[in-house]
Amino acid sequence: MSELSVRHLLGIKYLNLQDIELIFKTADHFKEVLGRSIKKVPSLRDITIANIFFENSTRTRLSFELAEKRLSADVVNFSAAQSSVRKGETLIDTVNNILSMKVDMVVMRHPNPGAGIFLSRHVDAAIVNAGDGAHEHPTQALLDSYSIREKLGGVAGKKVVIVGDILHSRVALSNIFALQMQGASVRVCGPKTLIPKYVESLGVTVEPDLRKALEWCDVANMLRVQNERMDMSYFPSTREYARQFGLTKPLLDSLDKEIVVMHPGPINRGVEITSDVADSSHSIILNQVENGVAIRMAVIYLLASKIKK
Ligand code: CP
Repeated sequence: MSELSVRHLLGIKYLNLQDIELIFKTADHFKEVLGRSIKKVPSLRDITIANIFFENSTRTRLSFELAEKRLSADVVNFSAAQSSVRKGETLIDTVNNILSMKVDMVVMRHPNPGAGIFLSRHVDAAIVNAGDGAHEHPTQALLDSYSIREKLGGVAGKKVVIVGDILHSRVALSNIFALQMQGASVRVCGPKTLIPKYVESLGVTVEPDLRKALEWCDVANMLRVQNERMDMSYFPSTREYARQFGLTKPLLDSLDKEIVVMHPGPINRGVEITSDVADSSHSIILNQVENGVAIRMAVIYLLASKIKK
């Protein structure tokens, strides 16, 4: 298969295994390009992409912009905080105004779940979901699986525990879909209040004890507590959370095996993960960030090839 089954990347649940394998194969090629002294290819000289961010971002935004520039696309950046959204302009009006400037693709981060899906039904451009509320963050899950594949030689058969604030996490949901599609087993671990009741219906096991979860897994993906999405207290205190669900060096060293440690960022050092773990040889956190550029180049390249000019 040489093309994606979708015209937009709205979530992992809209992809199939062949799509993921094609994205990884394409990313392998772009990773090789990124290792060259000239890290740029002329593939998308005829494509214009708008990055529109209604929520804060460091990694995703920079990674998309870099990926687009490495592919020689024309890039415009839009930040809601400095825009006419502040004057009451709607999402569809905003995007249609951007599209009337002959933009082919929109990369969007938005606080509302389903914002990308909504947009894809109303505008004539390829839409890439760069995170929509607590729904999905598909390129994060793709770069996470790609990093596991790179570190452990594959994803099928691997045991992955996702630890922390599952309830508010788009990274957790996209990872669950992506990992299971590739044949990995997934457990979640965290305070009962931060584990959604429906999670077991996704084929995921809940393990409330962090030590047991770590003893079981090959990979631990440590998630941030998303205070910005919380309207109440979900656990007694940050200190208590860190004591029960934080990954520390003594805990890691007490396991009778090596595990791979991941984190999507931004890290709250000393809460979900201590600095000596985040910066240890177990951690592939910066490899995840590096792989994000190749994965986003692959996604953009493959979606652009489906745009009818
Ligand atoms: N992982 C992630 O989405 O980070 P940013 O919020 O900085 O983009």
